[in-house]
Amino acid sequence: PVVFVLNGPNLNLLGLREPAIYGSATLADVEQIARRAGESLGLAIDFRQSNHEGDLVDWIQEARTKAVGLVINAGALTHTSVAIHDAVRAVGLPMIEVHLSNVHARESFRHHSYLSPVAAGVIVGLGADGYDFALQALARRLLPRDP
Ligand code: DQA
Repeated sequence: PVVFVLNGPNLNLLGLREPAIYGSATLADVEQIARRAGESLGLAIDFRQSNHEGDLVDWIQEARTKAVGLVINAGALTHTSVAIHDAVRAVGLPMIEVHLSNVHARESFRHHSYLSPVAAGVIVGLGADGYDFALQALARRLLPRDP
């Protein structure tokens, strides 16, 4: 089973960008964390990043036939994008929302998320490990263990 792990604007600059807030891990490091988690959970990871809202909408739609779940860090689009909200709702796949930083401890404009109402769960403030935890949570939903 494939999980799409989608990253939005400016996450390509991870490691360079405000390391005091986002940490020193690069997006390649985050991808490695996600791939390792996928390997141990039996999930194939399709890891992508774009600075463009429409790419994220296209990829969420693509996931409908190719993936069993989504992990999304939409970056600043989290706080603005009705289109991404609608796309997640339209495909009906379980989605875990991830943020590296604790958005609730930051500016008030980061406190509202258009993704949270369509997320199965939300992980904030735990850095790159949040992607690992998100994949564990998806795996539990998708591949329930024997009672
Ligand atoms: C972020 C938080 C957003 O508010 C911000 O715009 C980002 C990154 C995070 O991972 O902490 O680009 O999604």
